[in-house]
Amino acid sequence: ELFVQSSSRPTHNVSMCGMLGSMIPQLDTLLNLSKKLHGLVRFNCHQKRKRTERQNKLDNLPNIQHTAAAFSSSKMNQTLSQLYEFAQSFQFHLNWLKIARDNVSLPCQPAEGASAQMLQLSDVLKASLLQISLDVPHTPLPSFPVVSTAFEALQFSVEISEHLQVFCHWAKRSIRHLQRQQRCPRQ
Ligand SMILES: *[C@@H]1O[C@H](CO)[C@@H](O)[C@H](O)[C@H]1NC(C)=O
Ligand SMILES: *[C@@H]1O[C@H](CO)[C@@H](O)[C@H](O)[C@H]1NC(C)=O
Ligand SMILES: *[C@@H]1O[C@H](CO)[C@@H](O)[C@H](O)[C@H]1NC(C)=O
Ligand SMILES: *[C@@H]1O[C@H](CO)[C@@H](O)[C@H](O)[C@H]1NC(C)=O
Repeated sequence: ELFVQSSSRPTHNVSMCGMLGSMIPQLDTLLNLSKKLHGLVRFNCHQKRKRTERQNKLDNLPNIQHTAAAFSSSKMNQTLSQLYEFAQSFQFHLNWLKIARDNVSLPCQPAEGASAQMLQLSDVLKASLLQISLDVPHTPLPSFPVVSTAFEALQFSVEISEHLQVFCHWAKRSIRHLQRQQRCPRQ
């Protein structure tokens, strides 16, 4: 599918469609992993209420408004840059979470797995940005709170898990939108 022509004819569409297509299963895997991040099958209302009362939240976590004007820009370059920036930010958060959980003796494999998957997604996003000759955005390393108890680590796990799930849904819709725009063949 993803063959490269040696002629000088632009092959943008072929390879762009290939890259966009490969992001969907990556996001499905990431969605599955994100649900397992906190290691809880469900968390109850009590915990949820407590959590939202907290002042101390992860300020730099991408907060995607599910219904918001995500598609006000149907521009390929804006969407891909935005996706890449969010992916980078989640990557930082997942790496931090992995260490934070490990510090308080909680299992860190789910965060590690999600981080590895996010890295793969970032790589494809980066390749697609380079394909359309865009600069790869630089995402500064966010500052993170101190985590000293397992309960705090769990709260942050739930918070990241929720945001990551919203991101995955939003990213899939954005990519499908780009696939239609590029007239990519249906899979
Ligand atoms: C992709 O293909 C569509 C339809 O064939 C065409 O209109 C569009 O210009 C192409 N885009 C690029 C970047 O080659
Ligand atoms: C996600 O999880 C569901 C149910 O656990 C499973 O059926 C599906 O194959 C998984 N998908 C991926 C892409 O891992
Ligand atoms: C995105 O593409 C449009 C049209 O090709 C261009 O006008 C705009 O400057 C680009 N934006 C960025 C951030 O490169
Ligand atoms: C993990 O523990 C080390 C040593 O106590 C500490 O320096 C570091 O800030 C902790 N990391 C996180 C993410 O909590």
